[in-house]
Amino acid sequence: MKVLDADFIKGYIRMANDGWEQGWHERNGGNLTYRMKPEEVDMVKENFSPKEWTPIGTSVPKLANEYFISTGSGKYFRNVIIDPEDSFAIIEIDGKGENYRIVWGLVNGGRPTSELPSHLMNHEVKLIATGGKHRVIYHAHPANVIAMTFVLPLEDKVFTRELWEMATECPVVFPDGVGVVPWMVPGGRDIAVATSELMKKYDVAIWAHHGIFVSGEDFDLTFGLMHTVEKSAEIFVKVRSMVPEKRQSITSDDFRSLAKDFKVTLPEEFLD
Ligand code: 13P
Ligand code: ZN
Repeated sequence: MKVLDADFIKGYIRMANDGWEQGWHERNGGNLTYRMKPEEVDMVKENFSPKEWTPIGTSVPKLANEYFISTGSGKYFRNVIIDPEDSFAIIEIDGKGENYRIVWGLVNGGRPTSELPSHLMNHEVKLIATGGKHRVIYHAHPANVIAMTFVLPLEDKVFTRELWEMATECPVVFPDGVGVVPWMVPGGRDIAVATSELMKKYDVAIWAHHGIFVSGEDFDLTFGLMHTVEKSAEIFVKVRSMVPEKRQSITSDDFRSLAKDFKVTLPEEFLD
């Protein structure tokens, strides 16, 4: 089967375009990776023509021999739908989890996203934590979440609580809460280590003054998670623009009642 005819590729392209239409991907901002299923690799591997092995910049032994789709570094989400072969690549990880090679795509040259170390370290953590269920890691630059990082203390508890309070269904969508990474230089191993450490506990990691990383099982759930967090952040910005303090909100006991009815577990550390 031709790569562009495969359903998982169509889903990837649709998600990238949805992110562009939301305004989360100015210029080359953001990146998207997907860990392919073995049957998806088999479906399209007749089209592969492997390039040279290149160091990942970190070590991800649990991802040895896995295949991923990755947006290209410097490529625009805006162009993914009109020129997929120029915009993203399928990459293969070597047997040690230290090098990758492009096997399809990026036909006009280039390399996978500069955030590949963060993406792959997050994939590795989630592969272990979810028994392989999570396949998608998504990084975007949504304006309202970024704005929050200039006015709130950069603490997991503060961000979790504010985001939960802004929309009733938030604790159901991300019951574990969100983590916050202080400002760090993007693109390297250090920020990848800090982010993947938070991903052991959360599905959402906010990068102060930069953007968000989210993890999920499929394109719908992962896009939906980003969308929910950013919608909640938008309500936060609106509330703060009207008044310095909320007049009333959802209480800790309200959250406990919600958790009971919706059958989710909310950590007590976020409920005092
Ligand atoms: P890339 O173009 O290398 O994916 O970088 C975009 C980005 O958002 C960096 O954090
Ligand atoms: Zn970024």
